[in-house]
Amino acid sequence: MKKQIVFMLLTTLLCSALSMAQVQKLPAPAKSLGKNVMEALWSRSSGTEFSDKMLSDQDLSNLLFAAIGVNRPSEGKITSPTARNFQEIRVFVFTTKGVSEYLNKENSLKQVAKGDHRGLIADRQDWAKTAPVSLLIVADEKKFGSSDTHAKLAMAIDAGIVSENVNLFCSGAGFVTRPRMTMDIPAIKKLLKLSDAETPLLNNPVGYAK
Ligand SMILES: Cc1cc2nc3c(=O)[nH]c(=O)nc-3n(C[C@H](O)[C@H](O)[C@H](O)COP(=O)(O)O)c2cc1C
Repeated sequence: MKKQIVFMLLTTLLCSALSMAQVQKLPAPAKSLGKNVMEALWSRSSGTEFSDKMLSDQDLSNLLFAAIGVNRPSEGKITSPTARNFQEIRVFVFTTKGVSEYLNKENSLKQVAKGDHRGLIADRQDWAKTAPVSLLIVADEKKFGSSDTHAKLAMAIDAGIVSENVNLFCSGAGFVTRPRMTMDIPAIKKLLKLSDAETPLLNNPVGYAK
């Protein structure tokens, strides 16, 4: 009996340690940073050359806040507008270590795959593999609640807006990025176990300038 209780306690401890390891809380996003809005617009451009310096947790928090961060907690609203506020756009983070989903309400990263899968984002554009981080922008039809032509258009627009928030953040904060549709969608869907209702639409490799 005693052995059983000890075993159960150890299993519970192990399970909670494992689940803690898979979710990483990020530092709070900055309140102020970088160029002003006109300077960011004047300097926005798409790049293909990245330093291999990894982004810090603070950089990731700022970047992901720009993408879909919660900026009005009392209303649960986010930095990117979405059609009818469906908030159907999900963002995954590819690094050398693994793939995580950004959980915007908790401002945390939940690991969904281990290992370096940046090659799936790069696909036939090898330079994209050299970015230390790639953001994958996925539309989730289940959150949108419909999948007709109009809904598909709205989701593509919403994804584009998220990507543009990332583009402008990168311009303003001194990072290099490029919005891209090129990627190995079937392999990404398999890796992330995405259903037919979850569609990768765009990606943004991100890094410091070389
Ligand atoms: C929807 C969309 C998809 C794109 N897909 C790719 C892509 O797959 N590969 C790529 O190298 N650039 C891609 N781009 C980047 C464009 O080529 C780039 O924005 C364009 O050449 C203009 O350059 P600029 O962003 O520096 O103004 C894409 C841009 C957009 C808006």
